[in-house]
Amino acid sequence: MLAIIGAMDEEIELLLADLQAREDLKLPGVTLHRGTLDGVEVLLTRGGIGKVNAAMTTTHLLVQGATRVIFTGVAGGVHPELRVGDIVVSTDLVQHDVDVSALGYDLGTVPGEPPAWAADPELRQVAVQAARTVEGVTVMEGRVASGDQFIASPQGVARLWQSFGAACAEMEGAAVAQVCAKAGVPFVVIRSVSDTADTGAPVDYREFMPRVARHAKQVVRGMLARLSGTPGQPTDAG
Ligand code: ADE
Repeated sequence: MLAIIGAMDEEIELLLADLQAREDLKLPGVTLHRGTLDGVEVLLTRGGIGKVNAAMTTTHLLVQGATRVIFTGVAGGVHPELRVGDIVVSTDLVQHDVDVSALGYDLGTVPGEPPAWAADPELRQVAVQAARTVEGVTVMEGRVASGDQFIASPQGVARLWQSFGAACAEMEGAAVAQVCAKAGVPFVVIRSVSDTADTGAPVDYREFMPRVARHAKQVVRGMLARLSGTPGQPTDAG
């Protein structure tokens, strides 16, 4: 079963509205919505903001039988070529706020874990194909840096770019990645750029979030069409 997670209501409500044969499953700390989207059986949920919520939600999804996980949402652009509305498909993910350097570990490395978690090649490919159908935006494959911080300064952007080579900053993806990797479950993170993580980020984020959330919906619908073996079908009416 395919799981689709968004951090916030805005990120999943467009998909939830189209979910067929919907059943709600209330679990400790999260509600999962089971049903079919474009003929694919899915578990859809709003996971909440931050790495702890993301890890908890992902664990629930795996226990309920998720065998592939897509995380969709918005991010702050870090790569200098990214503009609001552009889409990042994860190559791999790091936790930029982890610092065990006093014990000799590289910045971002959780002791006992890999320095980064690689996204699934097939899900990446399908995500890129679907993202390319969104008009007027750049689709970039790159590293997603996650941390429990909203990045809103040139220094914050420079740190993520120089220390991690991150394409974008968000607050959940690497936690989803870590849990999925431990369980051997393929995953991909798709992020639409709502701001460029600099001092204007809080204003841009509020202004552009609804528009870029629609991009995320279009990418997920395009992925579902491809994963159900019906590529080329219309996937989004707007
Ligand atoms: N999500 C969207 N914009 C973000 C930012 N600038 N930092 C962290 N998460 C974000």
